[in-house]
Amino acid sequence: MDNASAYAVAAAAQRRPALELVGGALDLHELVRLATLAASSHNTQPWLFRLRTQAIEVLPDFRRRCPAVDPDDAHLWRSLGCAAENLVHAAAAQGHAASVQLAQQPQGLRVDFEPSAALGATDLSAALVRRQCTRRPFDGRAIAREHRALLAQAGACGTARTLLLDSPALRDTVIDFVRAGDVTQLTDPAFRRELIRWLRFTDAEALETGDGLASTPAGQPSLPRWLARPLLRFLLTGRGQAETDTANIRSSPLLAVVVASADSPGAWVDAGRAYERLALQATALGIRTAFINQPIEVPSLRASLHGALGLHGETAQLLLRLGHGPEAPFSLRRPLEDVLLDQRGPEDPVSQTVSAPTPPA
Ligand SMILES: Cc1cc2nc3c(=O)[nH]c(=O)nc-3n(C[C@H](O)[C@H](O)[C@H](O)COP(=O)(O)O)c2cc1C
Repeated sequence: MDNASAYAVAAAAQRRPALELVGGALDLHELVRLATLAASSHNTQPWLFRLRTQAIEVLPDFRRRCPAVDPDDAHLWRSLGCAAENLVHAAAAQGHAASVQLAQQPQGLRVDFEPSAALGATDLSAALVRRQCTRRPFDGRAIAREHRALLAQAGACGTARTLLLDSPALRDTVIDFVRAGDVTQLTDPAFRRELIRWLRFTDAEALETGDGLASTPAGQPSLPRWLARPLLRFLLTGRGQAETDTANIRSSPLLAVVVASADSPGAWVDAGRAYERLALQATALGIRTAFINQPIEVPSLRASLHGALGLHGETAQLLLRLGHGPEAPFSLRRPLEDVLLDQRGPEDPVSQTVSAPTPPA
């Protein structure tokens, strides 16, 4: 089998429909599979899972942190929030209610499950295996008013809520901030080094690691690393990315920002959960989501964004565009063995003998 076919086969296997159970049965391994399909910054999948009785711990894997783009680990915690939100909807399909809590010992999230005869598969649980982030332009079709209301409603969790950005003036301001963010980030050697470390230039590389930003979902050609690396000097530039992002934003009928009333691990988890639920709702409605987080990742731009949004006592957590377009090839995930911790392991998960991440050099 060639690498492109192997990639398609692996993605389809990982994205098989969610298991539906009734009568109090609970398949924790299936829940973890569906949790790993959540969004994560740079597709780092910075999570480890420990199975408990009627519960799953979702723990940070700090070996997968990205200090250049995410120095305070806010994206890492948002990613854990995304995974926890998937657990909530996957559990519903198995007839269980889930409650998510921030835990100190071990540091992370604990999700407890309780049988509920009232719960079953939903549009959102069916969307778990089809949600994806896109990097492509949308077709410009408008998003219906009733769908906007459903999206805003889905994008609220704890301290976090979603604001839909409709004003053309605000859209122009967002474009200016994203462009400025592209130039700041792509002229920063540390940001570039980190990003390139997580790029997967060929299907073979993506299959080998099961993580990172692969060319196939992004619609880019597969090029061997020795050829792609030197070309990045010309292909991956602030100016070039700014042009791509401007066109992508202009093609998007709706922009949205997830904000939170705090800026702490708890609020970051809430923001991740809010995004993931909004994205599942969007997927169920045939709407796609794409992140444009540069103005949140660059501190000076984040302050300006807060001013432009007129935020008081809330901070911007995630910025996205929404619209319609074709489904792209899905990004890959690591196998369950790589993210499951021994149930009897020590409290500090990273000291356990799980395989260390080895992104291509
Ligand atoms: C906290 C967080 C931040 C992200 N930031 C960006 C971003 O700025 N730009 C982008 O294109 N994608 C961003 N992503 C999307 C990830 O790259 C994407 O989730 C990952 O590649 C897996 O792909 P999938 O969501 O299609 O399964 C972000 C995701 C999360 C959870």
